[in-house]
Amino acid sequence: MATFVHDNGSGGGRRRRLRDRVWQVASAVTTPLHPSDYLDMFRPLRSGADLRARVVEVRPETADAVTVVLKPGADWQGHVPGQYVRVGLDVDGVRLWRSYSLTSSPDAADGLITITAKAVPDGLVSSHLAQQLRPGQLVQLDQALGDFVLPDPAPAKVLFVTGGSGITPVMGMLRSGLDRLDDVVLVHSETKADDVIFGEELRALAAAGRLRLVEQHTDEHGRLDVAALAALVPDLSERETWACGPAGLLDAIEEHWAQAGLAGALHTERFRAQLAEPGEGGTVRFTGLGTEIENDGSTPILDAGEAAGVLMPSGCRMGICYSCVLPLRDGSVRDLRTGDVTTAAPGDGVLIQTCVSAAAGACDIDL
Ligand SMILES: Cc1cc2nc3c(=O)[nH]c(=O)nc-3n(C[C@H](O)[C@H](O)[C@H](O)COP(=O)(O)OP(=O)(O)OC[C@H]3O[C@@H](n4cnc5c(N)ncnc54)[C@H](O)[C@@H]3O)c2cc1C
Ligand code: FES
Repeated sequence: MATFVHDNGSGGGRRRRLRDRVWQVASAVTTPLHPSDYLDMFRPLRSGADLRARVVEVRPETADAVTVVLKPGADWQGHVPGQYVRVGLDVDGVRLWRSYSLTSSPDAADGLITITAKAVPDGLVSSHLAQQLRPGQLVQLDQALGDFVLPDPAPAKVLFVTGGSGITPVMGMLRSGLDRLDDVVLVHSETKADDVIFGEELRALAAAGRLRLVEQHTDEHGRLDVAALAALVPDLSERETWACGPAGLLDAIEEHWAQAGLAGALHTERFRAQLAEPGEGGTVRFTGLGTEIENDGSTPILDAGEAAGVLMPSGCRMGICYSCVLPLRDGSVRDLRTGDVTTAAPGDGVLIQTCVSAAAGACDIDL
């Protein structure tokens, strides 16, 4: 007579136990890898795997900018236009994470998403995206983040002020939200017409009467004079404003809007932290690795560590996502944005953001 395992009479329980047993056997056979590692090899975008995306296309936008079309894994939760995503990829064998604004509409029928990167000189990840990345490759992904988004309902009158790659989050908003925006002015600054990312698409939207586009080509006309913006956009004070671009442009806008009493109607997104307060520098010891590096006091510990081959957790690299937080076991670090010094003794349990902190004397970090 056949023997059956009792499971409260539930066939589901039996199946679950059988599956668990198969998994145990598979684990034993595949050690030191876990069976899920093999599943990941064959179905890297499956639900339950680490979130990844497959590169579908790398499309040139300008001489130094590309759009990367990605098929995200099954657990991708979607995004709100204007948000960004952290992307992790291996450059020379080191996994590096950077943030990129999503430039696609969240409603794309094919479920694909896009990011658009402008290669910065000596930029490890942006250059890799622009020159090395190929269709079929996999990148790591996080869920979308960020509050540089339009409210619902959208304001009656909107002004976007962008410079260089700062157009990317705004393009995400325009591609998906233009139907609910009645009156849009976009002032965009770039060295020359050919370098304007999405230039053709923006000019076509303007020609179709969907928005008013003001292009400032700095090679010919010099920098965008923020004080003169009111002449370009006479009803500026009636417009809720979203601005993204180089630090100098954003600093000037924030100052100008504050002076005009309009700070509440201004939203800015920065791609880099403002690091203004160099510290003393010192030797940083990574306790778990037994590695020491010299940190000059103006370079974030994250950058100094990576430059010395120390792989560290990171995300936005500008103090907003907290992915880079590590325990400061002993010593002092200076916050490069504010100049504030944080000091820890063993057992204090002090955490620091390595992307915006530099050594202020010798210090020990648990990594
Ligand atoms: C929220 C957010 C959204 C972003 N969205 C986009 C986007 O849509 N498109 C895009 O191209 N970039 C975007 N960035 C910037 C991006 O994350 C990287 O910082 C940028 O691609 C440079 O990375 P890298 O590895 O090439 O340079 P790194 O190797 O980190 O740095 C190389 C050199 O370039 C300098 N540098 C670093 N970042 C910049 C920068 N942004 N501009 C100029 N010089 C820089 C560094 O100081 C260093 O000297 C975003 C950043 C944030 C925080
Ligand atoms: S990497 Fe985002 S806060 Fe440091």
